Order: sequence, then C-alpha cells, then structure tokens
Amino acid sequence: MKPNLSTRYLGLQLANPVVPGASPLTGNLDEVRRLEDAGASAIVMHSLFEEQLDRDVGAEFAHMRRFEDVFSEAANFFPSAADYALGPEEYLGQLRRIKDAVAIPVIGSLNGTRAGRWVDYASLIEQAGADALELNLYHLATDATVPGTDVRDMILEIVREVKRAVRIPVSVKLAPFFSSFSNVGSLLEGAGADGLVMFNRFYQPDIDVETLEVVPRLELSTPDELRLRLRWLAILFGQVRISMAATGGVHDSHDVVKALLAGATVVQVVSCLLKKGPDHLTALIDGLRYWMEEHEYESVSQMRGALSLANCPDPAAFERANYLKTLQLWKT
Ligand SMILES: Cc1cc2nc3c(=O)[nH]c(=O)nc-3n(C[C@H](O)[C@H](O)[C@H](O)COP(=O)(O)O)c2cc1C
Repeated sequence: MKPNLSTRYLGLQLANPVVPGASPLTGNLDEVRRLEDAGASAIVMHSLFEEQLDRDVGAEFAHMRRFEDVFSEAANFFPSAADYALGPEEYLGQLRRIKDAVAIPVIGSLNGTRAGRWVDYASLIEQAGADALELNLYHLATDATVPGTDVRDMILEIVREVKRAVRIPVSVKLAPFFSSFSNVGSLLEGAGADGLVMFNRFYQPDIDVETLEVVPRLELSTPDELRLRLRWLAILFGQVRISMAATGGVHDSHDVVKALLAGATVVQVVSCLLKKGPDHLTALIDGLRYWMEEHEYESVSQMRGALSLANCPDPAAFERANYLKTLQLWKT
C-alpha cells in the first residue's frame, strides 16, 4: 500500500508536506505553475514589508536593498526603488493572479515588527484570496534599553491584532533567539496563532577589511542549519498543538524525514529550489515516499513527532545533558 503523504497545515489539507517557502520563486507565474507541477502542496508568497507599507524606509530596509548587489536572485525579491512605490498594489495583484493560476493553497506573507498601519494589509491579503497568512516578525533588537519581554509582548500584540482582522489561518515566522523559546511558542498559540514557522535566518553582514565597509552577505542555507530547527521542533511537539513548519536547511528527502520525525507538520524549502530548480520538489517528495515504504510508515501523521522530545527513546539527546556528552565525543 502506498503511504499517505497528506498533512493538515494551518487547517488546510495538503497533499504532501513539502511547501516552497517565501522567496523570489513565487514572484513569477510560470515558476509558480512549475512548482505546482513538480508537486508543491501549497506555496508561500514572498513578503510584503512593513517598510513598503508605512512608506518609511528605515536604515534596516535600506540595508536590505543592498542585497541586490551581491545576490542576483534577490533583485526580484527586494524591491527596487521604482517597485517600492507600487509595492502593495502589485503584491495584491500578483496574489490574485497566482490564485487564478494554481489550484493549491496560496499563503500570503506579511513582514514587519512594530505595530502600525502595515498590519491592515493582513485583511487586504485575505480579500485578495490568500488561503492563509504567514506573519514574518523579523526583529533585530538593537536598542539596549528595550528588554526582551517588550519584544515578546510586541510580537504577541501584532498576532492578536492580525487575528482580530482576518478569518484565514495565521502562522508566525520568527527567530529562535528568545530566553525561553518554548514559552514564546506557547504564548503565540494562546494569542491565536495557527502555526509556527521555524526559523527566520538572519542575513549576517560582514566586514570588508580593505574598503572598511560593512557588506551585506546573502548566502543560501546549508543542511547543517536544519539541526537547530530539529531541536526546537522536537521540544515544542507535544507542548503546542498548532502546526509547525520547518524552514532553514531542508535540502534533500532525508532532511524532510528528519523534520517530520522531530515534529514538523510541513517543511518549507527555498535554497535547494534556488540551486536545483522547481523539479527538485519531485525528488524530495519521491524520496520521502520511498523512505516511508522502506521503514513501513503508513502516513505522515504516524511519522510526525515520532522522535520528538516527548516520544524519542533518549529525550536527553535534545536537552542539556547532550551538551557534555557531545563535547566528550571529540578525540584528539
Ligand atoms: C532570495 C531569498 C528571498 C527570500 N524572501 C523571503 C521573503 O520575502 N519573506 C520571508 O519570510 N522569507 C524570505 N526568505 C527566507 C526563506 O523563506 C527561508 O525561510 C530561508 O531561505 C530558509 O530556508 P531554506 O534553507 O530552504 O533556504 C528568502 C530567502 C531567500 C534566499
């Protein structure tokens, strides 16, 4: 019997757990159709940014635009000055066109950090036909006077505000850098979030020692980055009941398997598709099916969380005890 790959993410019934994440790939209708043909079970659109909506180009955004110089694909994604003025309308238009072009669910993406007018776009994204909304709360807390609890409370307030404004499911994409990430996950569930998307990658700047400039660097992910996601998926599984998506470091079908065993409901993929093209989705899905057959799993829901903190035979592997054990593995 063929294994059942379907999964329920944000209340949406998806044919399989592999979803192209927010990226320039969804900026083009032909690419979106190719993603659907290759097996994408849903797609997340690239983001509409707070800075585009509040017409207040802060230092952070000006910095992000410089990615255009270092990574050509980013040119589609970080709007040029001309696109910037048209941003929101174009975004909603593109969302409507994508909805018309494909049958799979389309998840809109709104990216910001402070409460403000941009949050109103959640309902415009809903009206444009999005099946769900991913809120990317990409925040870099640089002000030494702002305590972590304020950052956490601001995120919770944005989620509550958006949930009041829309009926579609809302997921929250965020960073792992909280003193107690598990608590933040649980508070987000309490605030009404329908899913957690783990994690944002922070695009770290570098220093050019010749020109003495701080230079932006946008590098695609490596599979090593998945491990941070695996740990937190495993820890949160059983502690929150909402959907969880892994984003960051899923490159091959074994990475998909690992994320599901840790507790993910779906994986989102970007870097591997930018490197290998949309057809790589088919390899990920076929590889997952093959692995399930080999290991006699009948369904994704049976796999989900089988190696989470709550279910794995050695829970200490995810906890502090693992720290000492791992360090002792090093042999000189
Ligand atoms: C060129 C590029 C553009 C991206 N654009 C967005 C975006 O608009 N919104 C967003 O939330 N994430 C964006 N991301 C982040 C991805 O959605 C994803 O979380 C990240 O790349 C990690 O997944 P990966 O390891 O599969 O690449 C972008 C990533 C890349 C490489």
